[in-house]
Amino acid sequence: MPKVHPRFDDFPAYPLAEVPRIRRELRAQGVDVIDLGAGDADLAPPPAAVAALKAAADDPAMSRYGFQLGLVELRESIAAWMDRRFGVGLDPMAEVLPLLGSKEGIAHLAFGYVGPGDATVIPDPGYQPYRGGTLLAGGSAHLVPLRPENDFLIPFGDIPPDVAARTRMVYLNYPNNPTAAAAPVRYLEEAVGWCREHGAVLCYDNAYSEVAFDGYRPPSILEIEGAREVAIEFHSFSKTYNMTGWRVGWAAGSAAIVATLQRVKTFTDTGQFMAVQAGARAALESYDDWVPGNVETFRRRRDAAAASLRQAGFEVHVPSATMYLWVPMPEAAASEPFALRALKEQGVVVMPGAALGKGGEGFFRLALTATEERLEEAAERLGRLL
Ligand SMILES: Cc1ncc(COP(=O)(O)O)c(C=O)c1O
Repeated sequence: MPKVHPRFDDFPAYPLAEVPRIRRELRAQGVDVIDLGAGDADLAPPPAAVAALKAAADDPAMSRYGFQLGLVELRESIAAWMDRRFGVGLDPMAEVLPLLGSKEGIAHLAFGYVGPGDATVIPDPGYQPYRGGTLLAGGSAHLVPLRPENDFLIPFGDIPPDVAARTRMVYLNYPNNPTAAAAPVRYLEEAVGWCREHGAVLCYDNAYSEVAFDGYRPPSILEIEGAREVAIEFHSFSKTYNMTGWRVGWAAGSAAIVATLQRVKTFTDTGQFMAVQAGARAALESYDDWVPGNVETFRRRRDAAAASLRQAGFEVHVPSATMYLWVPMPEAAASEPFALRALKEQGVVVMPGAALGKGGEGFFRLALTATEERLEEAAERLGRLL
């Protein structure tokens, strides 16, 4: 039997791994399962995106390789949108790169910058490709717990000097999954300053920049002075446009870092299906007409879920962004047994904080991926566990 490389020993189990089996078994037994586990919206993508995908699929030219260049019109729309939304001017050919979903780009970036002996600074809990990319590239992950007493920010002052000296990349994600925290601009300035001082790449995951409420407009890291030297920002069509399965996103930022990522990708993929890129472009072009209504749906869900969880006995902070509630565990119970009980006894899937990293212990995450009525029902069922 061929031996798997020992680097896999350091890999945590994929958090959603056993849930689909249990959920399937429960459903087969007739249990009405409410799934609030994954950040995968139950809502439709913009009709304009679907129409553009269909039309593009009829064009034989779209069936050829996209390569890393991809659809030039998509690059142009991305650059124009970044300018309108953030006031960030980008060269669509040199400072923008289409991705097969932002996860792909985030994971691959480490191959350009990280190797044995190198460290990366990673939020814990945090999205899997930060750690995954680091470990696959042979580096070591320095996990920093995101705690409420630090407003779920990484305190740069706490990074030990010997780690800081080896740090090649810092991963930040605000608005944050799973804590739903937002980062103030002065913190982003500190992050850019720290990365410049230490010669580290700032990998800024902005997947939730558009899922924000009550007038909050999350910034781009590229708005911060000096960021262009060290930062690359990742955007996704998944959350803004309910297009998780389309696998399309983009990277933007420093031309040198974008070029490095493009070089890595040249060896690992040959571009997203160009009809998908045409659909993504139509989604971006429909932003003003379509996104506010979708965000309003999430806002109503957020309010319904928060109110009903409170009524059920949970302590809930109402977040200014993301499609998640990050709920403290009642009475310091462990999150994984609680989530398992929630599924088996009440038919509700939530994500235990510990499954997203040790630093997530003490919380569970609830995704706003069901109607208000279903979220209220889920909250009531969860309350029965207290
Ligand atoms: C923090 C974060 N970044 C990026 C993504 C992903 O996106 P994509 O579907 O574009 O790969 C997700 C999806 O869950 C996420 O939570």
